[in-house]
Amino acid sequence: MNNIAVIGAGTMGNGIAHVFAQAGFTVQLVDLNANQLEKALATITKNLERQVQKNILPANAVADILKRIHPVHQIKEGITEAGLIIEAATENESVKLRIFHELDENALPDAILASNTSSISITKIAAATRRPSQVIGMHFMNPVPLMKLVEVINGYATSPVVTDKITALTRQLGKTPCLVNDYPGFISNRILMPMINEAIISLQEGVASVEVIDTIMKLGMAHPMGPLQLADFIGLDTCLAILKVLQEGFGNPKYAPAALLVNMVAAGNLGVKSGAGFYTYSSGSKELVVSENFKKPFKA
Ligand code: NAI
Repeated sequence: MNNIAVIGAGTMGNGIAHVFAQAGFTVQLVDLNANQLEKALATITKNLERQVQKNILPANAVADILKRIHPVHQIKEGITEAGLIIEAATENESVKLRIFHELDENALPDAILASNTSSISITKIAAATRRPSQVIGMHFMNPVPLMKLVEVINGYATSPVVTDKITALTRQLGKTPCLVNDYPGFISNRILMPMINEAIISLQEGVASVEVIDTIMKLGMAHPMGPLQLADFIGLDTCLAILKVLQEGFGNPKYAPAALLVNMVAAGNLGVKSGAGFYTYSSGSKELVVSENFKKPFKA
């Protein structure tokens, strides 16, 4: 398993490619969008340089790590030699089912197909292939190079041999695998997303401002980041997609996404990746600035 492929070069895909290349793997990084591939390589370079500045990585390792990452536009080109393929494309069920069908058609017969999905059923994804026992969830956390957890999700048909291989591989990357079963949102997002949603509903109802909500959770609950900033960081479109999976999967209205979240996504305010969400983001600036829409306190 020295060759791996990552499908999707967005927020998560670039981080996954980074950690595998750093661990010595050859990585084919596939995205339909040429700009995303360019952006991903620039982000990986910047993050590796940061690791050098922090003395986590020797300066002379950077070029070799970058050489191991190959940008590719077509799934078919990128996966033919991969022992493991990790899908990190947009959180959309039909997109993922199409990708897994194509992966199954073109991958080596013994290749393991993993999904980095935040919430979509691994069992359903596996059913789009003729190898459901070789399909598993490998849910990395953002930012991938820094976060130690990988939530490993067993689908209904995942073989124990595949689970063992992925668990061992996760350790090889210096990360900690936590094994869970395939239920909507798994564990991480089943617990995290209702909290983020409740923070957005509190803002929507005018209970408190963006800064106050985040400060309460940071100072009061010792969270390193407030829930609204975290939502921006994850991507508001991704948060919305996960809440819809929870709402539909459990058939429980308690997971219904906040109307404000729905509106922000419709308006294209997706958080860090679009430059604005609850806060605004301009490259180079580390200061956290609340978005114009939330500057004046509003009443219910
Ligand atoms: P993103 O929107 O930043 O990137 C998705 C990428 O997939 C885009 O570059 C897009 O061009 C590409 N893509 C879409 N369809 C494709 C296809 N058919 N073939 C190749 N590339 C395709 O999304 P992000 O945030 O990286 O999320 C990716 C996955 O990781 C989702 O399933 C998400 O739920 C999951 N995830 C996200 C986390 C986060 O904090 N953003 C954390 C953990 C998991």
